[in-house]
Amino acid sequence: MTKFRLTDAQATRSLGVRLGESLPPGTVILLEGDLGAGKTTLVQGIGAGLGITDAIVSPTFTLINEYPEGRIPLYHLDLYRLEPEAVAALDLESYWEGVEMPLGIVAIEWADRLPYLPESYLHLNLTYLSEGGRQAQLISVSTGKSEAAMELPL
Ligand SMILES: Nc1ncnc2c1ncn2[C@@H]1O[C@H](COP(=O)(O)OP(=O)(O)O)[C@@H](O)[C@H]1O
Ligand SMILES: [Mg+2]
Repeated sequence: MTKFRLTDAQATRSLGVRLGESLPPGTVILLEGDLGAGKTTLVQGIGAGLGITDAIVSPTFTLINEYPEGRIPLYHLDLYRLEPEAVAALDLESYWEGVEMPLGIVAIEWADRLPYLPESYLHLNLTYLSEGGRQAQLISVSTGKSEAAMELPL
């Protein structure tokens, strides 16, 4: 596990930029953290690190925003408003299996709504610090038997 102290929104964005510059195609990043913890800010940084110039806006109402123009595609999901049964109907695996669309980075806010998980993923948890700012905890998880957890890129 790697921990980061993010003193302000710029620090959250910078962590995202480093991830966007380094993560390989097919990476799923599950973002956990209360409302306002900085999940969307981090994904905006990922977009900048990928070279995306389109504005990255919260997909709270659209559920999924797709940005194909960077180094690799970015798929930004926000499951806040959904129940797990509704999430199951979305066939989200197609985003990380690379069958129907090109592999990219799949960043999922409110991923606790997922009824199933990919075989391997990064888990990033954002929490409020009492002195202000946020803490980020990044873990690489692999549940597949054959697949080793990916090296943390940072
Ligand atoms: N490390 C940080 N310290 C202080 N404020 C932050 C930090 N990271 C993000 N923010 C701010 O918190 C607010 C909510 O961020 P947002 O990314 O929309 O949260 P979420 O998507 O988790 O609800 C924004 O105003 C953002 O600028
Ligand atoms: Mg958000």
